[in-house]
Amino acid sequence: MPDIVPGALHHPAFLDADAQKRLAQEIAEVIAAAPLFTSRMPKSGLPMSVRMTNCGPLGWMSDKEKGYRYAPRHPETGAPWPPIPQMLLDAWDALTGYPKPPEACLINVYSEDAKMGLHQDRDEADFDAPILSFSLGADCRFRLGGERRAEKTIAFTLCSGDALILSGPARLCFHGVDRVLPSILTPLPAPLAGQGARVNLTLRRVT
Ligand code: SIN
Ligand code: FE2
Repeated sequence: MPDIVPGALHHPAFLDADAQKRLAQEIAEVIAAAPLFTSRMPKSGLPMSVRMTNCGPLGWMSDKEKGYRYAPRHPETGAPWPPIPQMLLDAWDALTGYPKPPEACLINVYSEDAKMGLHQDRDEADFDAPILSFSLGADCRFRLGGERRAEKTIAFTLCSGDALILSGPARLCFHGVDRVLPSILTPLPAPLAGQGARVNLTLRRVT
């Protein structure tokens, strides 16, 4: 697994086509129980271009009034988030070796014109645990920088089935998605067809 920068590990095609399809089925079931919603930027209240939902004991969200946070319930249905699929818990163990299971799995759904500005994942109390993400569907141009926003960044492509780990010295690196690349060649696996162009799952320890 190539280390892009120390602690940032890119595992191309970690999920084969069959695993991607099984994961897509699991995620479609999560979305059916916990519908996609739009988070808003703190203060400005501007909507984010990705739609999201979560599975696991805690889920990430943001709104104008209370800002970025983790919560145990869906903001619209009020129901607890569905559990994290076993195949993701197994992948967490296999890829991170971290002794405790993830507590949150954020599911970001990108339309073809969605993007995500450079940010750090720092709403968690535990920075020792890595962040593990999986991508499905369209490729994207992913940008990775250093621990300070002004540091130089690199860009590379994340494809369907890829895993990315931000751990150790890369745990607090700025990162974002410049753009989704044309999805003609890699549509989302059938169970997620019609939801968007790209799905990214991020597994995290929170407490
Ligand atoms: C994120 O940083 O929350 C998402 C990254 C991605 O979509 O690859
Ligand atoms: Fe992030």
